[in-house]
This record gives sequence, C-alpha cells and structure tokens, in this order.
Amino acid sequence: MQFDYEPVPSRVVFGENSALRLKEEVTALGGNRVLIVCTKNMVGRAKHVIVSLGEMCVGIFDGVEPHCPENIAMSALDMFEKKNADLIVAIGGGSTIGVGKAITLRTDAPFIVVVTTPCGSESTPIHGMLIGNKKKTGRDRKVIAKTSIYDPVLTTSMNAHHTATIGMNSLAHCVEALYAKIRSPISDLMAVEGIKALTAGIPASIATPNDLKAREQVLYGGMLSGHCVTLAGIAIHHKLCHVLGGHHGIPHGESNSVILPYAVAYNETAAPDAMDIIKTVMGTDSASGGIYDFTTKISAPKSLKELGMKEGDLDIAARETVDTTPYNPKQVDIKSVREMLQQAYEGVRPVPL
Ligand SMILES: [Fe+2]
Repeated sequence: MQFDYEPVPSRVVFGENSALRLKEEVTALGGNRVLIVCTKNMVGRAKHVIVSLGEMCVGIFDGVEPHCPENIAMSALDMFEKKNADLIVAIGGGSTIGVGKAITLRTDAPFIVVVTTPCGSESTPIHGMLIGNKKKTGRDRKVIAKTSIYDPVLTTSMNAHHTATIGMNSLAHCVEALYAKIRSPISDLMAVEGIKALTAGIPASIATPNDLKAREQVLYGGMLSGHCVTLAGIAIHHKLCHVLGGHHGIPHGESNSVILPYAVAYNETAAPDAMDIIKTVMGTDSASGGIYDFTTKISAPKSLKELGMKEGDLDIAARETVDTTPYNPKQVDIKSVREMLQQAYEGVRPVPL
C-alpha cells in the first residue's frame, strides 16, 4: 500500500443550532470586525445568526450571484476593505463561498463558512470566478475555511428540486473521489460514508423537508464530499460541469445531476474497483445505472436538453472538456466525450463507452 494523505486544515462545528455558536468561533480566530457575505434572500433566512454577532458585524455584502462573477467578488473585496473588516463570514453555498474565498485569497483574512447549501466547497482549495463567459479556477489551500459550521436547521427551507440537485453535486464529489488521481484508502472511507449518507438523506429530506435527521445526513454527506475533493481530486465529471456552467450557463447542481451517470459510465471499464464500491454501497448491479435510477427516484434533471442546452453546442463543450481535464482513469478523447454528451443530451440510460 502506498499513498499520500494530508488532512483538510479546517475546524468543523456540526449539529442542530450550531450556527448560534458563530460569535464564539469568530472570537476564537481573533476576529473583531466581521463582513457577512450572502445573497439578499439569506439576509432574512439567517437573520438570527447575523444578529447573534451584535456589533461585531460591520457590514453585509448581499450581492452574491451564481458562478461568482468577477465584478461581484471584487465589489465584496472593496466593501471588506472600506469597512476595515478583519474576518469574513460566508453564509450560504457554493457561489457565496466563492466570494468569501476571493476575499481571503487576496487579504489573508480568516474565513468562516456557515453552510446553508451543502456542497463541500468550504473545505476545498479550489477557487474560481466567472470571467467573461469562462469559469477560471485555481487551487490554493489558503482559501479553505478556517472554521465551517453545519447547522441542519438552516437547510430545511431548501425545496425538493434544490435538495435533489445540490445533493447530486455532493454525491458526484464522493463518487468521483473513488477514481480520482490522488485517491487514498482514507478518502475512500469518506467517499463511501458520504454516498451512504446522501443516498439515504436526499430522498428522506425531499419526502419530509423539516426532518432534521434527514437534513443532517445530507449536510454530513455534503461536508464529506468537500473533504473528498480535497483529498482525492476531481476528474472528467467535474471538469465537464465547469464547462457547462461557465460557457453554457447551466447551474452546477443541474449539470451534476445530468452528467454523473454518464461520467461514471464513461469510466466504467477503466476504474472497475471504484465501480464495485459504488455498486456495493448503493445496492445495485450497475454503478452508472444505479446512479441514473437514483436521479429518477429524487426527480433530478436527467437530460441536457431539458436544461436548455443546444445540441449544436455539444461539439464546443466536448472540445473544452478535452482541453481542460488533466486526469481521468479513461483517456479523454474528443470522439468518446462527444458520444457521452449525446447520451446526456438525450437523457437515455447510460451506456459504457
Ligand atoms: Fe461541485
């Protein structure tokens, strides 16, 4: 056995009402002047959390937009500097965390995330902004949140569609970790635990939105999924989702929902041990088929066509994916990626390529 392992350098505070511990976590990191980063909608949803900071909160940047456009991130940075803030608290999911990462990357200020949309981004070194119509990403461990707070109470207002699509993003992180380049026995443990929690918690949360135990499982799976990305890396699936988000405007959860069964089918013959783990954990006789059936069970989107993608753009997406995927178990070539995209466009049952 031979592997490298470097733990995620982040404190985790997990559990019901844990968001009310924010002030003590800010103090523990030496913060006195907090800039809150969130969406307009979140200002109301997380009012009790923001209020709990009292005078420590010196500003609220509530202009977060999907995919973290460069001008939005730079406006937030400007506000952080003008308010003379010394710590960032992002309350939200991927796009909000993206803005927080942009600020901490440029200021070295401590960064706390209160996770309301489980996606794992808080514990990954990957940062990115939408520049023009392309998502530019980079990797730096200093953007990992110093402290991440996971409170299931803040996730109960996620509707069924959002729960399904964001859950599929987390599931994809765990699944892809099983065949990513720097996979280890420890990342495998987290991936397996994440897949178990998500496949149980997502349908249960959709059936009973206020079920805190179910929400807790989705949040726990989402947390593990971020650790999986950091410990193991990503492969063709996530590169393709970034292409679909940046160039074609497809939201990240939606692209993950559609693409995952096809990306797994693409790698089915090249990563047989990963497929065996997925089959065992999900109780299915086909890894890609089992994931495809799971998307049906939770009513997640199933085709690029229904997401508004134009068939004529599949060639461009295939080329961009080939150009930007540094590692994948099966060789990434234009012909087979284009075939995979055709299957995903039509939403047919995935066929290994
Ligand atoms: Fe993702």
